Amino acid sequence: MRVGVLTGGGDCPGLNAVIRGIVRKGVQEYGYDFVGFRDGWRGPLEGDTVRLDIPAVRGILPRGGTILGSSRTNPLKAENGIRRIKDNLAKLDVQALIAIGGEDTLGVAARLSDEYAVPCVGVPKTIDNDLSATDYTFGFDTAVNIATEAIDRLHTTAESHMRVLVVEVMGRHAGWIAIHSGLAGGANAILIPEQRFDVEQVCAWVTSRFRASYAPIVVVAEGAMPKDGDMVLKDGSLDSFGHVRLSGVGEWLAKEIERRTGKEARTTVLGHVQRGGTPSAFDRWLATRFGLHAIECVHDGDFGKMVSLRSTDIVRVPLAEATAKLKTVNPKLYEEVGVFFG
Ligand code: F6P
Repeated sequence: MRVGVLTGGGDCPGLNAVIRGIVRKGVQEYGYDFVGFRDGWRGPLEGDTVRLDIPAVRGILPRGGTILGSSRTNPLKAENGIRRIKDNLAKLDVQALIAIGGEDTLGVAARLSDEYAVPCVGVPKTIDNDLSATDYTFGFDTAVNIATEAIDRLHTTAESHMRVLVVEVMGRHAGWIAIHSGLAGGANAILIPEQRFDVEQVCAWVTSRFRASYAPIVVVAEGAMPKDGDMVLKDGSLDSFGHVRLSGVGEWLAKEIERRTGKEARTTVLGHVQRGGTPSAFDRWLATRFGLHAIECVHDGDFGKMVSLRSTDIVRVPLAEATAKLKTVNPKLYEEVGVFFG
């Protein structure tokens, strides 16, 4: 059997570990061979492939990024997209496709599988951890560790200069990276997309922190919004799945804090640093297990499924269910961490 593999959407630490898990088990246990598709859905759409065998996956476990390349290509928007993918898979004699991606990449896999009989298996990836059908996505733990280390380092500058430091983290419309790294890094305020924030309240927390002779760190998720006002965006452009490019709220908030409190406030936007470099041990472990289970799914002919973490077990869930609903931070959890604000 020949199996195609692609990685789509934003890159994420652990992608290479999944690819390695798939190929090692597929070749060693099942005698399969593999075709790597380049740059997400662009690969099968254009028939652009890369060699994917045991030598190709040697040494990639700790490497960030993806050896297959990635893109946000949406084949459902391309002319004759479905037909072209089907023709290319037939031409290359690819009988199953493993798509490693987030909401968008897996959304395409779900439609190809359910509506067009393309045998797909999905693996959930995203630093945002916002897929509801899995407890964790790989990449998230690494992103949280990077953000936490950055917050730890920013504390020293904040204290030395007695300034407010605002840290903008990624996460799109979910506050998981913000709440985990903010709590782990001892932030004095954590602002998430799920709860609109009151700038006056943030300023009150900042002021109370200075009163205790400490300098405040404010962690703000890129998708967080002020109570009265719209989303603050530096660049309102859309990607090919129609998502607006986020970022800008951190800069805006620092200016507001400075204007309202008279204290110097600066912003650090962590941006793609959170997605870069070597995956954490947890992400290598999770990504590898996802890879092993994904190829087992193919071997069982169990298509239209996504592998998912439930507690410590890897289970299979329908791809359509996996992408149906975003997993967001619930108000109770946010309330729980609120004891540290101010
Ligand atoms: O989904 C992962 C993510 O890093 C989000 O947190 C962020 O909003 C988005 O991707 C950025 O995408 P890009 O790198 O395409 O600008």
